[in-house]
Amino acid sequence: MRILAIESSCDETAAAVIKDGRQILSNIIDSQAETHALYGGVVPEIASRGHMQAVVRVTEAALREAECTRNDIDAVAATCAPGLIGAVLVGANFGKALALSLNKPFVPVHHIRGHIAANYLIYPELEPPFLTLVASGGHSLLVMVHGYTDFEIIGGTRDDAAGEAFDKTARVLGAGYPGGPRIDALAQKGDPKKYRLPQSHVKDAPLDFSFSGLKTAVINLVHNAEQKGEEIDRASVAAAFQAAVVETLVPRLGLAVRQTATDKLVCAGGVAANSSLRAALKRLAAEQHCKLFLPPPALCGDNAAMIGAQAFYEFQAGHLGHSGQNAYATAEITENICQKNG
Ligand code: KG4
Ligand code: ZN
Repeated sequence: MRILAIESSCDETAAAVIKDGRQILSNIIDSQAETHALYGGVVPEIASRGHMQAVVRVTEAALREAECTRNDIDAVAATCAPGLIGAVLVGANFGKALALSLNKPFVPVHHIRGHIAANYLIYPELEPPFLTLVASGGHSLLVMVHGYTDFEIIGGTRDDAAGEAFDKTARVLGAGYPGGPRIDALAQKGDPKKYRLPQSHVKDAPLDFSFSGLKTAVINLVHNAEQKGEEIDRASVAAAFQAAVVETLVPRLGLAVRQTATDKLVCAGGVAANSSLRAALKRLAAEQHCKLFLPPPALCGDNAAMIGAQAFYEFQAGHLGHSGQNAYATAEITENICQKNG
């Protein structure tokens, strides 16, 4: 089965053709990062308009690279939640209209389910159940994946997502946008022990965490130094921040591995591209004797291949879009977005 998938939830316009949920026939990503870098972050209306301009070209490129025509496609899928709503609406409505015109099924996909499914494209042997750490720009979750469309949230952030904290830290350090890769590179040159930054603990919720205190501590550190006219060692602040994020996420993941007694640990989302986090996850998996599934950095960030992978399993579960299918700025990973109201 060949699924043409569209992704437009943030600042990447992407289209891909995926065979049987596991094989990438094409994967085209058109990033607007350079445009948004001028403003230090994603400007929602500019993102929506960028998707409008790119979506047809990107879809045609995906079909061309997969060496198929529209008629060779068995279903069309698109991210329908969560994300910047104006941006999601462009890809979702385009996908829905394309499916309608081709008289093919339309499969709405939850973006975070898609991030997890990126792993199916790399690891043919991976099947649920497994434990997942999702760390993206908008979400940081510990999720038990019981089945391809059956998710249980067992922990997560109480406030900012890990990627959001990376982006804000990059901004206050003047490291540029997108923040995660900039902090990752800057941290290589710093000493993580030079500055002390706090870590959060959520009372009576050992699998939950928080990043807002860490973010505020970085802001205060930089502003205090500026007020005193002191030079700040930006690389060491970046290294200390990155170490604090890793030390927040990885021990909780270790606890979740023990609690769930899983032997499969999956990671997903843009922050899973972080070099320090990847190294710590490898150590954790070795210590806990579980197999680690980690997508290559190119499949950690937003792409449509992951949406096509998850769409295959949503299709198999009968989760098809209806004529009134809507798009949503927010939706829990546990929700069936085909039946969501409001
Ligand atoms: O999953 P993603 O591409 O989009 C969302 O669904 O949000 O994640 C984007 C986030 C951004 O906050 C970005 O700064 C972060 O992932 N990111 C990283 C790295 N690469 C991307 N964070 C830390 N280290 C990286 N190397
Ligand atoms: Zn994403």
